[in-house]
Amino acid sequence: MGARMRLRGKVAAITGAGTGIGQAAAKIFAAEGAHVLLLEINEAAGRETQAEIRKAGGRAELLRVDISRAEEVQTTFEKIRTDYRRLDVLYNNASIFLGQADAPVSQLSVDVWHRILGVNLHGLFYCCKSGIPLIADSGGGAVINTSSSAGVNGIPNCDAYTATKGATISLTRSMAVEYGPRKVRVNCIAPAAILTDMVRESNLKDPSFDEDRFLRVTPVRRWGRPEDIAQVALFLASDESAYLNGAVLVADGGITITPAFL
Ligand SMILES: NC(=O)c1ccc[n+]([C@@H]2O[C@H](COP(=O)([O-])OP(=O)(O)OC[C@H]3O[C@@H](n4cnc5c(N)ncnc54)[C@H](O)[C@@H]3O)[C@@H](O)[C@H]2O)c1
Repeated sequence: MGARMRLRGKVAAITGAGTGIGQAAAKIFAAEGAHVLLLEINEAAGRETQAEIRKAGGRAELLRVDISRAEEVQTTFEKIRTDYRRLDVLYNNASIFLGQADAPVSQLSVDVWHRILGVNLHGLFYCCKSGIPLIADSGGGAVINTSSSAGVNGIPNCDAYTATKGATISLTRSMAVEYGPRKVRVNCIAPAAILTDMVRESNLKDPSFDEDRFLRVTPVRRWGRPEDIAQVALFLASDESAYLNGAVLVADGGITITPAFL
């Protein structure tokens, strides 16, 4: 699908934009006319995304930040306010999934619990705390949060991750009600099975994961692509979704409604 410049003139911040879904979204947002701010902890990956977007004629700037650190996030958004004087879209995409370290609560270490909540939930809070007022001051815009099938179904053996993804849905709804009057729409995407580093490092390295069975029972019979989610994010970022607020869009090829996965 060719770009229709649906984000022309908009400034869009994307967390975790160096790889995976965030990188795909950064490229698509830039192709649609946005000036994309890449909020990424992995400087090398962020630089690569920045270079690819600029090479394609788009506008992007890497802002290296660890979203789990409140002061770093605050400083980053102050810089955005100073340099760009506006923010139209905040796409909270970055998260961590710590594979075998995450576990059922009775086996979960306090340290792992805090690390996962630190990025996935506290990081989301810090970005919204600084980003939403800037969007509101810019005349309104869109916040896109990222949950997971783990926030929709009961997925075992990753209780810290599932806690953050459930909280992301609740927080999306409360923020949608709170900030809708200031023209800030807050929506959420719940993906599953998107072939990125996160899945390569978790499912594909798990000896008990049966990829053949997975592909046999997934309704669309394939892994998701980062672009599949980036296109949903584009819709939520653009004015085409002007009447969506507090929505949770499950984008998973039908996995979470399939009895085979329950
Ligand atoms: N891949 C899937 O199947 C899947 C399924 C459900 C939900 N999700 C969610 O989608 C989002 C993107 O997932 P992905 O598969 O592209 O993951 P990924 O691991 O491929 O990419 C995550 C990006 O976030 C960055 N990041 C991590 N910690 C950070 C921090 N503290 N500060 C700033 N950046 C940080 C990483 O460097 C990386 O570039 C995540 O929220 C994830 O939970 C993915």
